[in-house]
Amino acid sequence: MRKNIVAGNWKMNTTVQEGVELAKAVNARVKGTATQVVLCTPATHLTEVSKVINQPALALGAQNCADQVSGAYTGEVSVSMIKSTGASHVILGHSERRAYYGETNAILAAKTKLALAEGLTPIFCIGEVLEEREAGKHFEVVKQQLNEGLFDLSAADFGKVVLAYEPVWAIGTGKTATPEQAQEIHKVIRDHIAAKYGQPAANDCSILYGGSCKPSNAKELFANPDVDGGLIGGAALNADDFMGIVNAF
Ligand code: 13P
Repeated sequence: MRKNIVAGNWKMNTTVQEGVELAKAVNARVKGTATQVVLCTPATHLTEVSKVINQPALALGAQNCADQVSGAYTGEVSVSMIKSTGASHVILGHSERRAYYGETNAILAAKTKLALAEGLTPIFCIGEVLEEREAGKHFEVVKQQLNEGLFDLSAADFGKVVLAYEPVWAIGTGKTATPEQAQEIHKVIRDHIAAKYGQPAANDCSILYGGSCKPSNAKELFANPDVDGGLIGGAALNADDFMGIVNAF
């Protein structure tokens, strides 16, 4: 079901101890919020962070998972390992995974199916790089990412996925998409979902915006009818900034 969601992607930041303190600070302040808040920590932090969060609004997520169930895959973390920490969500297809670790839409489709089979909610990321936007190809890029990464799912499974549109040119650059740019492409994404799964399914899908989202711009981004929240990088590492974004709804 469509919800307002603010997810923090901590990326490869904080020690376990620092992460626990950050999670405690967020946990103390999310009380009573109607927004679903998700902390996506490094895999090493999940178990400890799960012990210090207890607010109904607050959920825990990983940032990646293996594309295999179990076995001889040195260094990988499986969906069942993630689930066993108490996590309920997993980010998949972040542009950093796509660009630096060669994750293709086909790999991401496999990871998504494993996550869903384990009962984890995928936060599936899509988005174009600057050259693609400048060439006017951004709508085609996100549609292809959806077609190849997600549209093999049954309607019931698709209904369990959260989407995050993250223009790569806005990630960590301080350059945010304007509210108009965000609304325009979120609507394109929702219409593309409607064409595949029908309008009710499209209306039910939460589509988050990510890329230099801050307390100062979150309100105008989230005010758009097709923007259902944010996936937050840098600003998620500071409880004041993160809560400023959560409270932008
Ligand atoms: P920034 O908020 O640091 O731009 O990162 C966005 C992001 O990549 C979240 O996944």
